[in-house]
Amino acid sequence: LGNDIHCFKTIDSTNNYAKKLALDGALEGTIVISEEQTGGRGRLGRHWVSPAGDNIYMSMILRPTIYPNEAAKITIIAAASIANSINKVTGLEAGIKWPNDIIIDNKKVCGILTEMSAELNNINYVILGMGVNVNIDKFPKEIDHIATSLKKALGTEVSRKEILINIVKEFEELYYNFINTGSLKKTVDICKKKSVTLGKIVNIINKNEIMIAEAIDITENGELVIRKDNGEIINIISGEVSVRGI
Ligand code: BTN
Repeated sequence: LGNDIHCFKTIDSTNNYAKKLALDGALEGTIVISEEQTGGRGRLGRHWVSPAGDNIYMSMILRPTIYPNEAAKITIIAAASIANSINKVTGLEAGIKWPNDIIIDNKKVCGILTEMSAELNNINYVILGMGVNVNIDKFPKEIDHIATSLKKALGTEVSRKEILINIVKEFEELYYNFINTGSLKKTVDICKKKSVTLGKIVNIINKNEIMIAEAIDITENGELVIRKDNGEIINIISGEVSVRGI
């Protein structure tokens, strides 16, 4: 992974550009990074604040030999890799808010946006996008109470290059382990250990319907097990929902 890296000073969205490259036949592991995004996208059609200079905006093209309904596993492999990297490089304890947020001091330090193109039972490509708040000091007022950066948490600047290299390295290990063995165990172990979701009451937003439930486990397939307030226990696939602590 990372043999072919496309760097930009500014771009609308690294995910959009990676998608174009993927359609042109770019190989697995191709990376797009930018200093700034003018149209950074988050999950659920949200905007991703992407000012120049301080953060990481990266997208990677993957062509995993898995079924389309397994694509959500890529997101949690990325979450585990990012949380591990942050810990290794900075010593900070980064938590994972299943499935796709990395949390420090109860605030979001990184988000993951996984997008896929598939036909029938074959994945054409997956774009794994991640935005890491590294050295940003000031967030727009609307998100200041829910967002943080590595620098804010640590009190000193952090090398973006070191974080980026480490994330790719950690991801490469967990990703190929999963592709080669078919087992997600290594990732799930990390996600459970670093989870800030388990044992908590969470909102599950699914097709405009909000369910309130207790998050009780993560299965070996990376699904979240929840206990609804009527006692019913169900598994949630990360592609379908967004979870937030109350
Ligand atoms: C989220 O938490 O809602 C996901 C945020 C993902 C942001 C990253 S930044 C790089 C890549 N390009 C985008 O437009 N979005 C992702």
